[in-house]
Amino acid sequence: MKKNILLFALISIIALPFCSTSKKAAGNKGKEVPKVSYVTDVSPILQDRCAPCHFPGGKRRFLDTYAAASGNIDEILYRVQLPVDSSGFMPFRSKKAPLSDSLIQVIKLWKAQNMPN
Ligand code: HEC
Repeated sequence: MKKNILLFALISIIALPFCSTSKKAAGNKGKEVPKVSYVTDVSPILQDRCAPCHFPGGKRRFLDTYAAASGNIDEILYRVQLPVDSSGFMPFRSKKAPLSDSLIQVIKLWKAQNMPN
């Protein structure tokens, strides 16, 4: 009898890392989907690639605040994914480096996670 209990305990300990229930309960789709936010992830990308044109001092519609970024999210995503040689592509005329797939993925994730600040 005691042996069975020990065996059960041992199997539970071994099986625990493979159990994903707790992660799902935390509202995360799994380890590989990181949580992104405006302040830590999206704002630095926009500052790096969209300034100075879309920031105070620039001539275009500003993308310098949470409200501006979230309010223009669809057009932002649309333009950074256009073909690089298309006239609407951003960053404009590649004056800044185009966004890599992983940076675009960060912005897409932000939208999918309801754009937390
Ligand atoms: C070198 C300056 C420059 C940079 C850098 C730049 N843009 Fe633009 N952007 C422009 C110009 C010029 C236009 C107007 C031309 C057009 O609509 O295609 C524009 C237009 C836009 C528009 C349409 C609204 C508007 O202001 O006319 C959006 C949205 C936009 N850009 C997003 C971005 C994003 C997102 C980035 C960074 C990834 C970026 N841009 C980087 C110059 C820039």
